Amino acid sequence: MYSILNMKGIILAGGSGSRLHPITLAVSKQLLPVGDKPMIYYPLSVLMLADIREILIITTPHDLPQFQRLLGDGSDLGLHIDYAEQPKPNGIAEAFVIGADHIGDDSVALVLGDNIFHGPSFSKVLAKEREELDGCLLFGYEVHDPERYGVGETDKEGMLISIEEKPSRPRSNRAITGLYFYANDVVARAAELRPSARGELEITDLNRIYLEDGRARLRALGRGFAWLDTGTPESLLQAAQYVRTLEERQGVRIACVEEVALRKGFIGPEECHRLGALMDSSDYGRYVMTIADEVAAAR
Ligand code: DAU
Repeated sequence: MYSILNMKGIILAGGSGSRLHPITLAVSKQLLPVGDKPMIYYPLSVLMLADIREILIITTPHDLPQFQRLLGDGSDLGLHIDYAEQPKPNGIAEAFVIGADHIGDDSVALVLGDNIFHGPSFSKVLAKEREELDGCLLFGYEVHDPERYGVGETDKEGMLISIEEKPSRPRSNRAITGLYFYANDVVARAAELRPSARGELEITDLNRIYLEDGRARLRALGRGFAWLDTGTPESLLQAAQYVRTLEERQGVRIACVEEVALRKGFIGPEECHRLGALMDSSDYGRYVMTIADEVAAAR
């Protein structure tokens, strides 16, 4: 069992975004807008909801300065954000090789920079899984096209019994999402991983090592959850429509990182209001100020 206090975060935001060309010829995919905010706000807010405040963003040497311009050192949000380069897309599991120093002696959560999660009590789900982490924890989601993803099968206790990457004949409909929790030994295991036939350090190969040790669990995200894809122009548009529909209907925002920082107690209402005021020409900025005022008034 690992302490809830010690978990680092990594956002993997590299790759070439080739399925979105020409949109991503000049701009990183993970900086594209989804609704009214950059894509990376969604995975960033997931780590924040998991109470993770020390975060490493891994991206290409070319794109790194733009992520820095957007998020800085994270202190505005009560975070500590570092950056590292992945010169080539050598595989998702390379995040633990590049991020070894950042992880140090702690456990780690990896989230792919293009994955969007939204669902009830997500914060509680993440806290529980953090507390019970022993080995590796994956999040599964039922989809109609599992052959596009990593696919897992579990026993009755939720322990992973098979895992395959993009199988032509999937054994279940349970896709493995791009959010992964690992104990600290992931650093040693990733360092020993051999590149696949595609020449990549495959996340599925890494997860299979935990499976063989009987230390891989798959937590199903139920029907009430949304796990959205942003890999193609169509799915990007659908994700934006989903976000807008919910935001307009409910009057609340999904993945507003300033609001998450405020509600998590990483920053106070005054700081939150200041961040909103910097963007007061946009609805987003005005929303941040309103939330800050509401929280201040309730104190
Ligand atoms: O989204 C969940 C899926 O992500 C999982 O179900 C699969 O098991 C997993 O392999 C991965 O599949 P993808 O087909 O989405 O992998 P892709 O190579 O497109 O990489 C996912 C994101 O990670 C993408 O935005 C680019 C980034 N990436 C990828 C690689 C291989 C990097 O930043 N560096 C890399 O080396």
